[in-house]
Amino acid sequence: MPDRIPSSNTDITFSVPFVHRLRTTDDVCGHDYGVLGELLDAGETGSARVMLVSEKALQSNAQRLADQLAADANVELVSETIWIDGGETAKNTLDEIKSLLQAINATNLDRRSYVIVVGGGAVLDAVGFAAAIAHRGIRLVRIPTTTLAQADSGVGVKNAINYFDKKNWVGTFAVPWAVFNDSKLLQSLPDRDFRSGFSEAVKVALLKDPKEFENLAKHAKDIHDRVPEVTQNAINRSCQLHLDHITSGGDPFEMLEARPLDFGHWSAHRLEPRTNFDLRHGEAVAIGVAIDCIYSSLVFGFPEDAAWRVCQCLHEIGIPLWHPAINPIDELLIGLEEFRQHLGGRLTITMLQDIGCPINVHEIDEKQMREAIQRLDQWQQKATCQS
Ligand SMILES: NC(=O)c1ccc[n+]([C@@H]2O[C@H](COP(=O)([O-])OP(=O)(O)OC[C@H]3O[C@@H](n4cnc5c(N)ncnc54)[C@H](O)[C@@H]3O)[C@@H](O)[C@H]2O)c1
Ligand SMILES: [Zn+2]
Repeated sequence: MPDRIPSSNTDITFSVPFVHRLRTTDDVCGHDYGVLGELLDAGETGSARVMLVSEKALQSNAQRLADQLAADANVELVSETIWIDGGETAKNTLDEIKSLLQAINATNLDRRSYVIVVGGGAVLDAVGFAAAIAHRGIRLVRIPTTTLAQADSGVGVKNAINYFDKKNWVGTFAVPWAVFNDSKLLQSLPDRDFRSGFSEAVKVALLKDPKEFENLAKHAKDIHDRVPEVTQNAINRSCQLHLDHITSGGDPFEMLEARPLDFGHWSAHRLEPRTNFDLRHGEAVAIGVAIDCIYSSLVFGFPEDAAWRVCQCLHEIGIPLWHPAINPIDELLIGLEEFRQHLGGRLTITMLQDIGCPINVHEIDEKQMREAIQRLDQWQQKATCQS
């Protein structure tokens, strides 16, 4: 009988340094192009191979960017610009992913090539996913074109598409090569999308920066009116808070059970498909944040007046805090289990004890949650009558 080969265990902790590059520009498709050009490493071959993908709504700006890239001696544009439909449709099927992978294959992009994507959060997510799985990861330059994507998702390290009627069911974590928050690109954004993006700014301020929440509450009407200095500062602060969380929060790839940046998202992610994506992500998040603030006031001692101030702030920014799909509440509550499944392990939801004092909880009291939702319904009916 041969001796039994002894078994062994090897556990090695290791870490890999990442660089997160964020640039803010006035017109990256025009006079600020150089800031982008210098991040495209031409390497030993002498030219950076680049594919430009843009959503159709950004056609004139993306065309200007294509002209800049074409004129850059260090860049080889590998194809015509790829135009895709914007909004959640970009994420709702595998079709976009397949055609992007085909384009990447046909143009022989490799892991040192660049995909530059211009678009809202939905397009960034879909194109980012295709770039992340082609050759296990092509360098991705994100140029977010909505307030939400500039304030939140653009600097995130996630991408995804929706599947099985569930938000972000297929996706990866991937650190982008660079992110450009460009003020000019927001100019063409319709009011509805412009305003709804600020729900993520309110969310992150409630979690991490009480002073910033005060600032947002004070300037809510200016945000509604798109006052440039106010909106730009709010986007910059929100982006910085999200970026700090990712780069120094200790859990960029969400391995731990808590996902604080998903405050208000258990219901938001349920509401979006329930409305057939009639609700924008930012609008669903505003409703989710309002519900969880009221629930926090009922259960965790979050001051009640703070909960109503959050609702008032979102309302003044111009984001509706109700949608008929909130009912039946039983259907909405399924979002809790979907949220748990997405992360695995036990249910962990972030709630608030005070502004700037989040707590993670593992149980939701259904009766109190129904009460919170009813209170929001009453509040918004009154607010709508008054405005
Ligand atoms: N990966 C992440 O970490 C993360 C974080 C938050 C949100 N998200 C995802 O982001 C998506 C929401 O993104 P969003 O709020 O940016 O909305 P969106 O991408 O759906 O865009 C909203 C609408 O604005 C249009 N649009 C975009 N930019 C425009 C511009 N400059 N001018 C004119 N029209 C423009 C789009 O075509 C679309 O019709 C959701 O799918 C959400 O799940 C991802
Ligand atoms: Zn979100």
